[in-house]
Amino acid sequence: MHICYIIAMQAEAQPFIDAFNVKEQEGAFAPLPCRLYQAEPKAGKKLSIVTLGRQHERDLVGCEAASVATLAAVEKLHPDLVVNSGTCGAWARKGADIGKVYVADSVMFHDRRVPGDDDWDTQGLGNYPVWEGSMELAEKLALETGKVTTGSSLDLQPCDEVIIEREGGELKDMEGAAVAFVCSLTGVPVMLVKSVTDLCDDSAPTLEAFLKNLHLASERLAEVNRKAVELLLS
Ligand code: ADE
Repeated sequence: MHICYIIAMQAEAQPFIDAFNVKEQEGAFAPLPCRLYQAEPKAGKKLSIVTLGRQHERDLVGCEAASVATLAAVEKLHPDLVVNSGTCGAWARKGADIGKVYVADSVMFHDRRVPGDDDWDTQGLGNYPVWEGSMELAEKLALETGKVTTGSSLDLQPCDEVIIEREGGELKDMEGAAVAFVCSLTGVPVMLVKSVTDLCDDSAPTLEAFLKNLHLASERLAEVNRKAVELLLS
């Protein structure tokens, strides 16, 4: 069994990297910027953590970098399961709180519109399958589940909110559907584990809340992911 995590930012991944004492495999994806950390917690059971790397003096985030990293990881590592883990926005009125961790029961894009062509519009939104074991794992870890919707922006535009509300979105991120898209093409099961940094129905500016709560949310993610890996590799 080989589990490969795709985690966008180093700050989101670091507490998890520390918990498993994974070692960086320098230059594993060169010339791509994504970085690979690996460990073998038990004989024949592998854990890989892939972060997206950096460009323009910032950690890469978003769909393009997530797709590149996921495809590179799938082609090089042949994992049995991909887990996209990271932070997200969510809504207090839907029960969310800062640092609360969820497992995705479904995942789609919310900012890809093709008005006038239902088939392309449907393709744009994606609605990719998540790993069939996701719900059982959420139950074992006593985590709530919810729909992840992905877009290319941290802010929330009214036209995106219309789609999120119509589709029952609960967790807003910038990578989940891109990772799931690549997994749907390559036939690798995917699970999503997300921790809330900011509340979309709060008046605090999103970036401010995201930066303020990034450490807490990443620590909570690491706690959950440590237990998830122990269960999955047991
Ligand atoms: N990641 C963390 N918070 C987010 C938000 N509000 N939107 C998209 N991605 C996020």
